[in-house]
Amino acid sequence: MTGHGLDVVPAAGWADHVAGLLVDRLAARPDLVVCLPTGSTPLPVYERLPGALAARGVSAGRATIVLLDEFLGLPAGHRARCDVVLGRSVVDRVQPARFIAFDVDALEPAAACAAFEAEVAAVGGLDLVVLGLGRNGHIGMNEPGSAPDAPTRVIELAPSTREAAIGYGVDPPPTHGVTLGMAGILAASEIWLLATGTAKAGILTLTLDGPVSPNVPASVLRGHPGLRVIADDAARPSA
Ligand code: GLP
Repeated sequence: MTGHGLDVVPAAGWADHVAGLLVDRLAARPDLVVCLPTGSTPLPVYERLPGALAARGVSAGRATIVLLDEFLGLPAGHRARCDVVLGRSVVDRVQPARFIAFDVDALEPAAACAAFEAEVAAVGGLDLVVLGLGRNGHIGMNEPGSAPDAPTRVIELAPSTREAAIGYGVDPPPTHGVTLGMAGILAASEIWLLATGTAKAGILTLTLDGPVSPNVPASVLRGHPGLRVIADDAARPSA
């Protein structure tokens, strides 16, 4: 694995490390446009973010937070909806100037994707995309087979993704979602790929040291000059 940053941080300090990096970015660029994931990986970071901002006297009040992906078929306000999760875990806590999500309640899914892309373009595009890592190497809901030029779109969820969704409190899980596309992720200035825990060690190793292939969408990130991989020591790729 070469050509990009790999931070391996002890698990006990991992969330503070990532929260600190986010504060650094907001301090340097108060009008940061940052796309954030849901899932369990970033939740400890989000818990620490308000305190980390306050400790350094930094505000997110001019920033734009953009939602990475969304399930289809769940009613507005459902506790497993990604807009609800990111709203509660970050947006309500740090009060950014804007929160861009997918309007899947008022619009057909394809129209919601088009509106989302237009809103992101209107704020000048993404400075930073923060990603979790799916068990099968997906990023956002870009499942295996997603080409590097895949746009923001409706996608059928892989079986392992549907299984993971049950853990977020929705059973039976949704069959489809909408996601920022591979092209949109790769267009960002900077990309942070987060991975924690032993369950992610195997897929992180494949992501960083296996073939670059749409079969492992996260591996495609290795071609991006602004990629930073931030893992805890439990997820450390094996040599
Ligand atoms: C989910 C989401 C991703 C998330 C990933 C990892 O299916 N679509 O955005 O990053 O899988 O989730 P977790 O952090 O819970 O392992």
